[in-house]
Amino acid sequence: MQSPFIIVIFGATGDLAQHKLFPALFSLYKQGSLSNDLYVVGFARRELTDKAYQEFLAQEMDVSSDPQWESFASRIFYQQGLFDEPRGYTELIEKLHTFDKQLGACLPRVFYLATPPDNYPAILQNLTETKLSEGCGSGSEQWTRVAIEKPFGKDLETAENLDKTLSEMFEEKQIFRVDHYLGKETVQNMIAFRFANSIFEPVWNKEHVDHVQITWAESSGIGKRGQFFDGVGMLRDVAQNHLLQLLATVAMEQPKSFSKEAVRDARADAIRAIRPINSEEVSQLVIRGQYEGYTKEKDVAQDSQTETYVAMKLFVDTPRFADVPFYLRAGKKMDKDLVDIKIVFKQTCHVLFKEAGCPEIGNVLTIRIQPDEGISLRVIAKEPSTAKASSTPPSAKFSLATVNMNFSYHHTFGSHGVDAYEKILLDCINGDQMLFNRSDELESSWQLISSILKGESAPRVYPQGSWGPDAAVDLLAKDGRSWLLLDTD
Ligand code: BG6
Repeated sequence: MQSPFIIVIFGATGDLAQHKLFPALFSLYKQGSLSNDLYVVGFARRELTDKAYQEFLAQEMDVSSDPQWESFASRIFYQQGLFDEPRGYTELIEKLHTFDKQLGACLPRVFYLATPPDNYPAILQNLTETKLSEGCGSGSEQWTRVAIEKPFGKDLETAENLDKTLSEMFEEKQIFRVDHYLGKETVQNMIAFRFANSIFEPVWNKEHVDHVQITWAESSGIGKRGQFFDGVGMLRDVAQNHLLQLLATVAMEQPKSFSKEAVRDARADAIRAIRPINSEEVSQLVIRGQYEGYTKEKDVAQDSQTETYVAMKLFVDTPRFADVPFYLRAGKKMDKDLVDIKIVFKQTCHVLFKEAGCPEIGNVLTIRIQPDEGISLRVIAKEPSTAKASSTPPSAKFSLATVNMNFSYHHTFGSHGVDAYEKILLDCINGDQMLFNRSDELESSWQLISSILKGESAPRVYPQGSWGPDAAVDLLAKDGRSWLLLDTD
């Protein structure tokens, strides 16, 4: 059971607050993982009373009939304000003082920035000027933390400026740079899978791995998030953070210990080792796409050039993975919802079994991030002999097939574990930064993405429900490879 605390969510009527943060907080509350004396304050522009805000959330989250909602809702408050005007912040101070008085102590605080990144400078400036950032005061033992959602800035320069502002306001241990993919059970499991088993590390390198594919696909479009998404695009919304973090889980070296800094060091080293792409190479190595009908979406510019799809070919310049291609793709309005990593191993079958007809692709280790979290390993096996086969010539008797060895979180453990946002919120409240980005990780990822952004050309239009533009298929075809979709491909 946690101690009482306050969490202030900026961007309280936004998509992230409604669909991720509040559901995660409510779930933690129901599990008894949060203090009954927590205070959640939503800060946003709309004029709403506390009651109206609670009702708005209940409707969006569809929880009105949940027996525990009323008690959780009574802990939710609303502060109207513009991010760049001091009034809302001075009223917020009053509110927080009232909560402190109710419990007779100054309470620890989390300021959670869940707005589009353009608003971060104004929010941080007002938190500083009103001294809200000082929490219970500089000498106090009560913690104050700031959680900042991705994208952390819009490019390398804004990310560096943001980091500078943050470091002037807070100590590093107070800053929680969020990428919720790091909170996903399967992503966390990669460390255990790779380093707690002795059989994978010996083959986890350029001698054995042919290439790596990372797919991040969503069947939905941008929904009501046009205003946010059109100013951001897939490179900033997903590639700079989720995709590169997934790459880091594959490419990183074994951390020196299972401690916050050692794990962050290993992740940062992997991202730093990604080979830079200069603006002339962008058209060869990066494909941008936009789904048909995107410019007709609500709050999207009619002539928008924002990409809803990106595919990239990257290299990680480490002794382990030198010259092994990492193909990454992320898209909206894809054929299906799917996030996975495929480690495609070199095909050695033909050394002995050429005559028997080797499958074109041999061993593939698939790490399924979602749906159906788990891991499967595709192996080649001898097909059982049949009476018919025994009457055929000897070379045809021995035939090969691919089969899957499968581990599913759900079947094995009966659950998918804690939701990523629950994990992120709990860790932030507990002060554990292992699953949060450090500024050097972000600097390296922005270096790469910023140079890609500089070489941008118009995105290619692709049909909704497809796998993106044909050029993304060519990206692999040029190397004699193709995107693998199913475990059995
Ligand atoms: C967010 C992106 O970070 O992740 C969204 O901004 C995306 O565009 C979302 O829809 C997907 O998260 P999850 O956990 O459902 O894969």
